[in-house]
Amino acid sequence: MAARSSSSPAQTTTTLALLLVVAAAAAAVAAEAAAVAADAARGVRQVNRRGPYLGVVVPNGFEMEPLLRSPAFSPAKKLPYLDVAGRRFRFGTIGEKKVIIVMTGLGMLNSGVTTQLLLTLFDVEGIVHFGIAGNADPDLHIGDVTVPRYWAHTGLWNWQRYGDGPEKELALESNGDYTRKYGALNFSDYGVAGGGGGNLLNGVWYQPEEVFPADGTPESRRHEFWVPVDGRYYQLAQKLEAMPLERCVNRTGTATSPATCLARAPAVARVERGCSASVFVDNAAYRQFLRSRLGVTPIDMESAAVVLVAAQQGAPFIAIRSLSDLAGGGSAESNEAGVFAALAAQNAVAVAVKFISLLS
Ligand SMILES: *[C@@H]1O[C@H](CO)[C@@H](O)[C@H](O)[C@H]1NC(C)=O
Ligand SMILES: *[C@@H]1O[C@H](CO)[C@@H](O)[C@H](O)[C@H]1NC(C)=O
Repeated sequence: MAARSSSSPAQTTTTLALLLVVAAAAAAVAAEAAAVAADAARGVRQVNRRGPYLGVVVPNGFEMEPLLRSPAFSPAKKLPYLDVAGRRFRFGTIGEKKVIIVMTGLGMLNSGVTTQLLLTLFDVEGIVHFGIAGNADPDLHIGDVTVPRYWAHTGLWNWQRYGDGPEKELALESNGDYTRKYGALNFSDYGVAGGGGGNLLNGVWYQPEEVFPADGTPESRRHEFWVPVDGRYYQLAQKLEAMPLERCVNRTGTATSPATCLARAPAVARVERGCSASVFVDNAAYRQFLRSRLGVTPIDMESAAVVLVAAQQGAPFIAIRSLSDLAGGGSAESNEAGVFAALAAQNAVAVAVKFISLLS
């Protein structure tokens, strides 16, 4: 019996060798499965030796392509890009500045994750974010390029139960988790037959984000609603306001196919506030609510996530957003985003390139 369970020295060696092989194979699988594979990690170290870089964070290809095609951007010759975790980080220069250009994909989750990856992997001295946005300020026009001083995430809600009025404490409010400081959107104000009819959806209160700054105590939260962009960047952006911008989708019109131009030349404007949420706003009533309650101009789906991550990681940040439509319709320009989105993207690129040249 005992003989069966004991093993010879030769058998022990074989078992040990087998275990080592299994362990090594497991380690190889782990390295392969890690977010940063070994060869990508080597690439990251190589890139960082030539840092620091300015991070250029762009929502989607439609906004990034004009930058990649722009003569202002020269791709790096030796290592033009690195792919990590489903994102492509492109290296090169814009004017004198070394840049890393990365596309986030749509929405708050994608843009937050991509910005965190960018800042975690690379030696980044600041972030310029640009794209197109919906407009909430009827005094501005399609094609105008805005640079807000503050951004808020307007997609974190506490939805109050039916029957409770604004004077009633929210669920978990006493814990300090939620507040009645921002918002509130009351659905009974939006009945088509006029307000005050009551609505089972009652109302929502907008909530500040829980933030965990890199230089703070881990897991010790703070709350932030209006997140400021970098003060120096914002100051510098004043120089953009005199910049001439393209007015026409195409210029050489013919009798059958005329040139398509905006009614007036677009301009760059620094504004107070912008907001973002993973919500495409094509609704005039909601646009007017955001304008009157929060005073925002651009409405988009990424900027606040990028600024929330940049601020927590201590990276200077600015966002440049060109207005592609009056969110929810109602402007003098017909067709709006469909016709002018490409022009708006082009102008956002032009302003971002100009801003980057001011940094060098
Ligand atoms: C929303 O408005 C209705 C009708 O005026 C009111 O009864 C209700 O208390 C309001 N709810 C909130 C959360 O303000
Ligand atoms: C200009 O662009 C508009 C909108 O895309 C199009 O309808 C029109 O035919 C174009 N004109 C020329 C001359 O290309």
